[in-house]
Amino acid sequence: MFSHSRVLCPDLQQKIMTADQAADFIHDGDTVGMSGFTGAGYPKALPAALVNKAQMERDLRKTFKINLWTGASTAPELDGVMADAHEINLRLPYQSDPICREQINSGQMHYIDLHLSEVSQYAWSGFLGELNVAVIEVAGIHEDGRIIPSSSVGNNKTWVEQADKVILEVNSQQSLKLEGMHDIYYGTALPPHRKPILLNEPADRIGSQYLEIPKEKIVAIVETSAPDRNSPFSSPDAVSEQIAANILEFFEHEIKRGRLPANLLPLQSGVGNIPNAVLSGLDRGGYKNLTAFTEVIQDGMLQMLKSGTLSVASATAFSLSPDALKELNENIDFYREKIILRQQDISNNPEIARRLGIIAMNGLIEADIYGNVNSTHIMGTRMMNGIGGSGDFARNGYLSIFMTPSTAKNGAISAIVPMVSHVDHTEHDVKVIVTEQGLADLRGLSPRQRAKVVINNCAHPDFKEQLLDYHERACASGRGMHTPHLLSEALSWHERYEQTGSMRLA
Ligand code: COA
Repeated sequence: MFSHSRVLCPDLQQKIMTADQAADFIHDGDTVGMSGFTGAGYPKALPAALVNKAQMERDLRKTFKINLWTGASTAPELDGVMADAHEINLRLPYQSDPICREQINSGQMHYIDLHLSEVSQYAWSGFLGELNVAVIEVAGIHEDGRIIPSSSVGNNKTWVEQADKVILEVNSQQSLKLEGMHDIYYGTALPPHRKPILLNEPADRIGSQYLEIPKEKIVAIVETSAPDRNSPFSSPDAVSEQIAANILEFFEHEIKRGRLPANLLPLQSGVGNIPNAVLSGLDRGGYKNLTAFTEVIQDGMLQMLKSGTLSVASATAFSLSPDALKELNENIDFYREKIILRQQDISNNPEIARRLGIIAMNGLIEADIYGNVNSTHIMGTRMMNGIGGSGDFARNGYLSIFMTPSTAKNGAISAIVPMVSHVDHTEHDVKVIVTEQGLADLRGLSPRQRAKVVINNCAHPDFKEQLLDYHERACASGRGMHTPHLLSEALSWHERYEQTGSMRLA
């Protein structure tokens, strides 16, 4: 036991053991639900112990592979080491690890890409089979057994309810002052027993501060002391700043026309440089009392809470740079009043997102001239990360905004193409597309009207003529004037890139 153990419950102290001992509860072929969401709150010791175990089994000429479920992406210490040891048979529901990605795309690892709000329903309904073990990082355990969750909630509630056995990692590097920040809702059910979730404002608390786990399910407790993956954010580049400026101008326009209130509507924002540039633009823009109903609290949101631009942020996890983490820990009493961490079936709940009327802002890989969006597949076949929560928010948002630089790979690829090579978000869900070139507001436009606005406002000048030419010829073909396409040519841009390294015509 650590000299200042955070396991204060006498019954549970008896279950403290090493990670290698705890790994013995996990067997070849098991399905394991681990904590972790955008590099926060994932187990730090069990993955490495499982790598050792896989090696030992291999030495005995036995196989050791598991199916791995999490909240979302984790870190090299989890996804990276386990994929490297070739011990993941199937992964869900989201990842962003380069080794996992390589194995998914080379066919060595199965991957199920799910809407993050829906994972718990899949698990509860039995669509995914049995969950053998849950491995969950927590911040501490009280004398009476109450469990303080860690820096992410994700699917932890579902995993501990569904798993036969639970292994806890108690990480002394997570602030004990996280206590009180969580809101674990125990009112969810499967149809036909579902009741309305009475969350009417992002600030509403509807659940418990603690994670409930029957003591008899807990088979092992491992004490750890390791930080979350906290990658520093690079400053937004000129392209991200211009995309942010285009969005901010659009918000001002919408407020003037009376279509958005002065404090906007609850914000949902993906993670990365472009979303951070949008958040810091809002912070400089004189807004007050904005709210966020989102998946992840990132640096920009912390800054907005500090300045008063944002009054409250509801999410399921943190994703902070080292500097922002320091700021959080040093002023955690201030932030605890303003941040609520929920399980992901609530943070991403489609019904709540629709009711609150959120403004959803997410990245895309490519969009087509009619407004369909591909967020996941490079050239239609190779998985990048996964759909994550983008579908939960995009379909149900009041405003669903997708943003991207207008080109990729040093200008060889146009982010605006005649037809997307994979569809994650359909023309029915996508309301606004933004690049550094400009913004296309697709609301109230027919497909042919949309094509003109997307090409003229969003495409890079190097590809504009090519796109206009495609669209004009598709219209002139006279075949299907609702959504005109030249079927033999619609995906030729991708084929050309694969063959020549560029989407440009020679
Ligand atoms: N064709 C081929 N490659 C492309 C491309 C395209 N049209 N657009 C981007 N890429 C490549 C980039 O070159 C880059 O490659 P690299 O890693 O080799 O440098 C990579 O894809 C990432 O692109 P980047 O411009 O850095 O985008 P990003 O980090 O903002 O991520 C998504 C964009 C779409 C991949 C990311 O937002 C995502 O995974 N979205 C789905 C999940 C989601 O929306 N989550 C938030 C919901 S809460």
